[in-house]
Amino acid sequence: MNKLAIFGGEPIRKDPLIFGKPDLTRGHEIEYVTNVLKSGWIGNGPVTEKFELELGKYLNNPHIITTTSATSGLLLSFYMIAHRLGKVNLDGYEIITTPYTFVATIEAIIRSGAKPVFVDIDYNTHNIDTNLIEKKITAKTVAIVPVHVAGLPAELDHLISISNKYKLFVVEDAAHALEAYYKNRKIGSISDFTVFSFYANKNITTGEGGAVAVKDKSLYRIGKKMSMHGMTKTAYQRLHNKESIIEHPLTTYLGYKCNMNDIEAAIGLAQLESIDEKSHKRKLVWDRYNKQLSRIKTIEIPTINRHTKHAMHLYQIKLKTNDSRKRDQIANALKHEGIHTGIHYYPPVHLHPFFKKYLKVTSESSFPNSIAVSNNTISLPLTPYLTANDVNDVIKALNKVLDQLS
Ligand SMILES: Cc1ncc(COP(=O)(O)O)c(C=O)c1O
Repeated sequence: MNKLAIFGGEPIRKDPLIFGKPDLTRGHEIEYVTNVLKSGWIGNGPVTEKFELELGKYLNNPHIITTTSATSGLLLSFYMIAHRLGKVNLDGYEIITTPYTFVATIEAIIRSGAKPVFVDIDYNTHNIDTNLIEKKITAKTVAIVPVHVAGLPAELDHLISISNKYKLFVVEDAAHALEAYYKNRKIGSISDFTVFSFYANKNITTGEGGAVAVKDKSLYRIGKKMSMHGMTKTAYQRLHNKESIIEHPLTTYLGYKCNMNDIEAAIGLAQLESIDEKSHKRKLVWDRYNKQLSRIKTIEIPTINRHTKHAMHLYQIKLKTNDSRKRDQIANALKHEGIHTGIHYYPPVHLHPFFKKYLKVTSESSFPNSIAVSNNTISLPLTPYLTANDVNDVIKALNKVLDQLS
């Protein structure tokens, strides 16, 4: 048996396979960014507008507000809800979501003034268990935030029927789910707000960035202003007005500052041009993993729902353990073999020190599925341009490590 690299043996790869490495040189990224830099305007302007237009076509929803991140997009969505309720924030309200998410989801809820109320996930899909939502609804509940973990859409039909029954808003955390469909409907075109991330490791990136797709046109118009201090006109609009007159921007809504700029949008435009090609290539990698890994008895491969199109952002395997230390040991051994992996998400948000204290969490064992998945998943490298050899190396390393450590 080959000695594991972590114990001094030969690694499977000498040049490590980096997790979530973006690809920014095959398309027009450098050209478009250079054009913006030479144009004399790098702030929010015509290129951001074009990116929003193209994103709107892709998402089948013309109401797109680009933002600095998904985190700020979530907060902006909550501010739009507050505006609809005649308030400036959601102080005193509750928002239902899961603790199995990145801290950003919960951070944005708390920053909006609302209290996060947790519902456990389904063990197989890693998404909110919609059967558990209704019993958490109170008179203070204002919204439900499903997180489409790894790119697999949550059960939106059930969730939206609940939100309709209780007149709640739905804000989809679709940070992972740009390419996803739910029952032939594009994620981004279905519920009140859908929030995407273009962070460096996402399926398309702008370095940092995000977007909110808004269903209601009037709310979209208001949200767009709120993303830039609630002002009537942007700096670009004022500088380029046809009448060449001095205009004073007036704040008509309480906003904040979370708009995208033209440098980021230029990268986004180029990234979006090849999204279908990248998606196809991710699927090839995904299918290779499925074929090879379904034979390994000590792991579970990701669940796919027939009625959804998975965005294939993360390929998460589950180990047969409930001990995060065991999982970390395996991830560490893989790293020594030259295979970098991701862990999404440890611990579940309610067990992070800050949230535990702030939310007065008394039981360590609530939300058992969130805890189990948090303890036993590893995300394997998944980028469009992994070669068949790269994928084989991951599988070889996984077999080598699991044979000796599981
Ligand atoms: C589920 C989820 N929501 C929100 C975010 C926040 O995204 P951003 O970094 O664009 O703010 C992330 C980031 O990875 C995420 O995984």
